[in-house]
Amino acid sequence: MVPGIKGNGTDRTTEFRTRPATPGDVAFLADVVIEAARAQGRVPQDFGEAEFRRRYEAWSEEQLTGGIHASTTSVIELGGEGVGRLRVTRDDKGMELSGIQLRPHVQGRGIGTRIIEELQSEAAGTGLPLDLSVEHDNSRARMLYERLGFVEISRDAAEARLRWQPPG
Ligand SMILES: CC(C)(COP(=O)(O)OP(=O)(O)OC[C@H]1O[C@@H](n2cnc3c(N)ncnc32)[C@H](O)[C@@H]1OP(=O)(O)O)[C@@H](O)C(=O)NCCC(=O)NCCS
Repeated sequence: MVPGIKGNGTDRTTEFRTRPATPGDVAFLADVVIEAARAQGRVPQDFGEAEFRRRYEAWSEEQLTGGIHASTTSVIELGGEGVGRLRVTRDDKGMELSGIQLRPHVQGRGIGTRIIEELQSEAAGTGLPLDLSVEHDNSRARMLYERLGFVEISRDAAEARLRWQPPG
Protein backbone atom coordinates (compact mmCIF):
# COMPACT_ATOMS: atom_id res chain seq x y z
CA MET A 1 0.00 0.00 0.00
CA VAL A 2 1.19 3.49 -0.82
CA PRO A 3 -0.76 6.09 1.12
CA GLY A 4 -0.12 9.58 -0.19
CA ILE A 5 -0.95 13.07 0.82
CA LYS A 6 0.10 16.15 -1.07
CA GLY A 7 -0.95 19.74 -0.72
CA ASN A 8 -2.23 21.84 2.11
CA GLY A 9 -5.93 22.33 1.65
CA THR A 10 -5.75 23.93 -1.78
CA ASP A 11 -7.49 22.48 -4.81
CA ARG A 12 -4.30 20.57 -5.60
CA THR A 13 -4.66 18.49 -2.44
CA THR A 14 -4.31 14.88 -3.39
CA GLU A 15 -4.94 11.90 -1.19
CA PHE A 16 -4.46 8.59 -2.87
CA ARG A 17 -3.74 5.01 -2.00
CA THR A 18 -2.92 1.85 -3.89
CA ARG A 19 -4.57 -1.51 -3.39
CA PRO A 20 -3.85 -4.86 -5.00
CA ALA A 21 -5.88 -5.28 -8.17
CA THR A 22 -8.25 -8.24 -8.38
CA PRO A 23 -9.59 -10.12 -11.42
CA GLY A 24 -12.71 -7.93 -11.11
CA ASP A 25 -10.55 -4.90 -12.00
CA VAL A 26 -9.28 -6.06 -15.40
CA ALA A 27 -11.79 -4.01 -17.43
CA PHE A 28 -10.90 -0.94 -15.36
CA LEU A 29 -7.19 -1.53 -15.93
CA ALA A 30 -7.75 -1.67 -19.70
CA ASP A 31 -9.94 1.46 -19.51
CA VAL A 32 -7.21 3.43 -17.76
CA VAL A 33 -4.51 2.43 -20.21
CA ILE A 34 -6.67 3.29 -23.23
CA GLU A 35 -7.94 6.54 -21.75
CA ALA A 36 -4.45 7.73 -20.80
CA ALA A 37 -2.99 6.88 -24.22
CA ARG A 38 -5.93 8.47 -26.03
CA ALA A 39 -5.57 11.71 -24.05
CA GLN A 40 -1.90 11.81 -25.08
CA GLY A 41 -2.85 11.36 -28.74
CA ARG A 42 -0.87 8.12 -28.76
CA VAL A 43 -3.64 5.83 -30.06
CA PRO A 44 -3.42 5.16 -33.81
CA GLN A 45 -6.46 5.89 -35.96
CA ASP A 46 -6.81 2.23 -36.88
CA PHE A 47 -6.65 1.15 -33.21
CA GLY A 48 -8.56 -2.10 -32.74
CA GLU A 49 -9.98 -1.37 -29.30
CA ALA A 50 -11.99 -4.57 -28.86
CA GLU A 51 -9.04 -6.81 -29.67
CA PHE A 52 -6.68 -4.73 -27.54
CA ARG A 53 -9.09 -4.98 -24.60
CA ARG A 54 -9.49 -8.72 -24.99
CA ARG A 55 -5.73 -9.27 -24.93
CA TYR A 56 -5.03 -6.68 -22.23
CA GLU A 57 -7.67 -8.07 -19.90
CA ALA A 58 -6.38 -11.63 -20.40
CA TRP A 59 -2.80 -10.49 -19.72
CA SER A 60 -3.89 -8.54 -16.64
CA GLU A 61 -5.79 -11.54 -15.33
CA GLU A 62 -2.68 -13.68 -15.77
CA GLN A 63 -0.73 -11.16 -13.66
CA LEU A 64 -3.38 -11.20 -10.97
CA THR A 65 -3.71 -14.94 -10.73
CA GLY A 66 0.01 -15.48 -10.24
CA GLY A 67 0.79 -16.48 -13.83
CA ILE A 68 3.58 -13.92 -14.05
CA HIS A 69 6.34 -14.34 -11.49
CA ALA A 70 7.06 -11.51 -9.02
CA SER A 71 4.60 -9.12 -10.64
CA THR A 72 2.32 -6.86 -8.59
CA THR A 73 -0.53 -4.96 -10.22
CA SER A 74 -2.37 -2.33 -8.21
CA VAL A 75 -5.28 0.02 -8.58
CA ILE A 76 -4.51 3.62 -7.62
CA GLU A 77 -7.47 5.14 -5.80
CA LEU A 78 -8.35 8.73 -5.06
CA GLY A 79 -11.24 9.31 -2.68
CA GLY A 80 -12.16 5.64 -2.98
CA GLU A 81 -12.46 5.84 -6.78
CA GLY A 82 -10.14 3.95 -9.10
CA VAL A 83 -8.01 6.48 -10.99
CA GLY A 84 -4.95 4.57 -12.10
CA ARG A 85 -2.95 1.44 -12.67
CA LEU A 86 0.44 0.53 -11.26
CA ARG A 87 2.51 -2.55 -12.05
CA VAL A 88 5.81 -3.34 -10.36
CA THR A 89 8.01 -6.37 -10.82
CA ARG A 90 10.73 -7.44 -8.46
CA ASP A 91 13.54 -9.99 -8.70
CA ASP A 92 16.98 -10.55 -7.21
CA LYS A 93 18.52 -8.02 -9.62
CA GLY A 94 16.20 -5.17 -8.69
CA MET A 95 12.80 -3.63 -9.26
CA GLU A 96 11.03 -2.50 -12.36
CA LEU A 97 8.28 0.06 -12.67
CA SER A 98 6.55 -1.95 -15.36
CA GLY A 99 3.59 0.36 -15.83
CA ILE A 100 1.95 3.48 -14.44
CA GLN A 101 -1.08 5.18 -15.92
CA LEU A 102 -3.41 7.73 -14.37
CA ARG A 103 -6.75 8.87 -15.69
CA PRO A 104 -6.25 12.28 -17.33
CA HIS A 105 -8.27 14.28 -14.80
CA VAL A 106 -5.93 13.32 -11.95
CA GLN A 107 -2.66 13.77 -13.82
CA GLY A 108 -0.31 16.57 -12.88
CA ARG A 109 -1.22 16.58 -9.17
CA GLY A 110 1.89 14.87 -7.89
CA ILE A 111 0.52 11.34 -7.59
CA GLY A 112 3.01 9.84 -10.08
CA THR A 113 5.92 11.56 -8.34
CA ARG A 114 4.86 10.26 -4.94
CA ILE A 115 4.45 6.71 -6.17
CA ILE A 116 7.85 6.69 -7.88
CA GLU A 117 9.50 8.20 -4.81
CA GLU A 118 7.96 5.41 -2.70
CA LEU A 119 9.42 2.85 -5.12
CA GLN A 120 12.81 4.60 -4.92
CA SER A 121 12.67 4.32 -1.13
CA GLU A 122 11.96 0.63 -1.42
CA ALA A 123 14.81 0.20 -3.92
CA ALA A 124 17.15 2.15 -1.63
CA GLY A 125 16.30 -0.30 1.14
CA THR A 126 17.55 -3.18 -0.99
CA GLY A 127 20.47 -1.31 -2.59
CA LEU A 128 19.27 -2.56 -5.98
CA PRO A 129 18.26 -0.46 -9.01
CA LEU A 130 14.80 0.62 -10.08
CA ASP A 131 14.36 0.37 -13.86
CA LEU A 132 11.64 1.39 -16.28
CA SER A 133 11.06 1.77 -20.00
CA VAL A 134 9.63 4.83 -21.68
CA GLU A 135 8.62 5.18 -25.29
CA HIS A 136 10.43 7.79 -27.36
CA ASP A 137 7.14 9.54 -28.14
CA ASN A 138 6.39 10.08 -24.43
CA SER A 139 8.80 12.89 -23.70
CA ARG A 140 6.68 14.34 -20.86
CA ALA A 141 6.88 11.10 -18.89
CA ARG A 142 10.60 10.90 -19.63
CA MET A 143 11.10 14.39 -18.25
CA LEU A 144 9.42 13.33 -15.02
CA TYR A 145 11.67 10.29 -14.70
CA GLU A 146 14.81 12.33 -15.40
CA ARG A 147 13.73 14.87 -12.82
CA LEU A 148 13.53 12.01 -10.33
CA GLY A 149 17.10 10.95 -11.15
CA PHE A 150 16.64 8.18 -13.72
CA VAL A 151 19.29 7.92 -16.45
CA GLU A 152 19.21 6.11 -19.77
CA ILE A 153 21.04 2.77 -19.83
CA SER A 154 19.92 1.46 -23.24
CA ARG A 155 17.45 2.06 -26.04
CA ASP A 156 15.84 0.37 -29.00
CA ALA A 157 13.78 1.77 -31.86
CA ALA A 158 10.65 2.20 -29.73
CA GLU A 159 11.74 2.99 -26.19
CA ALA A 160 14.52 3.86 -23.78
CA ARG A 161 15.44 1.91 -20.69
CA LEU A 162 16.06 4.16 -17.69
CA ARG A 163 17.58 3.29 -14.32
CA TRP A 164 17.61 4.84 -10.92
CA GLN A 165 20.51 3.52 -8.84
CA PRO A 166 20.27 4.03 -5.08
CA PRO A 167 23.05 6.28 -3.75
CA GLY A 168 26.00 4.70 -1.99
C1 LIG B 1 3.22 9.83 -16.36
C2 LIG B 1 2.27 9.92 -15.15
C3 LIG B 1 2.19 8.55 -14.46
C4 LIG B 1 2.87 10.94 -14.17
O1 LIG B 1 2.03 11.04 -13.04
P1 LIG B 1 1.45 12.48 -12.60
O2 LIG B 1 0.82 12.32 -11.29
O3 LIG B 1 0.61 13.03 -13.72
O4 LIG B 1 2.79 13.34 -12.52
P2 LIG B 1 3.17 14.42 -11.41
O5 LIG B 1 2.02 15.33 -11.20
O6 LIG B 1 3.77 13.76 -10.24
O7 LIG B 1 4.35 15.18 -12.17
C5 LIG B 1 4.05 16.03 -13.26
C6 LIG B 1 4.94 15.63 -14.41
O8 LIG B 1 4.52 14.38 -14.96
C7 LIG B 1 4.65 14.40 -16.38
N1 LIG B 1 3.31 14.32 -16.94
C8 LIG B 1 2.20 15.00 -16.57
N2 LIG B 1 1.17 14.65 -17.36
C9 LIG B 1 1.64 13.75 -18.23
C10 LIG B 1 1.05 13.02 -19.29
N3 LIG B 1 -0.23 13.16 -19.64
N4 LIG B 1 1.81 12.16 -19.96
C11 LIG B 1 3.10 11.98 -19.66
N5 LIG B 1 3.72 12.65 -18.66
C12 LIG B 1 2.99 13.53 -17.97
C13 LIG B 1 5.31 15.75 -16.73
O9 LIG B 1 6.72 15.59 -16.71
C14 LIG B 1 4.86 16.61 -15.57
O10 LIG B 1 5.72 17.68 -15.33
P3 LIG B 1 5.36 19.09 -16.00
O11 LIG B 1 4.00 19.44 -15.49
O12 LIG B 1 6.45 19.99 -15.52
O13 LIG B 1 5.35 18.86 -17.48
C15 LIG B 1 0.84 10.37 -15.57
O14 LIG B 1 0.88 11.68 -16.07
C16 LIG B 1 0.21 9.47 -16.63
O15 LIG B 1 -0.45 8.51 -16.30
N6 LIG B 1 0.42 9.81 -17.92
C17 LIG B 1 -0.19 9.05 -19.00
C18 LIG B 1 0.35 7.64 -19.11
C19 LIG B 1 1.87 7.60 -19.19
O16 LIG B 1 2.49 8.31 -19.97
N7 LIG B 1 2.45 6.72 -18.36
C20 LIG B 1 3.88 6.53 -18.32
C21 LIG B 1 4.31 5.53 -19.32
S1 LIG B 1 6.08 5.30 -19.29
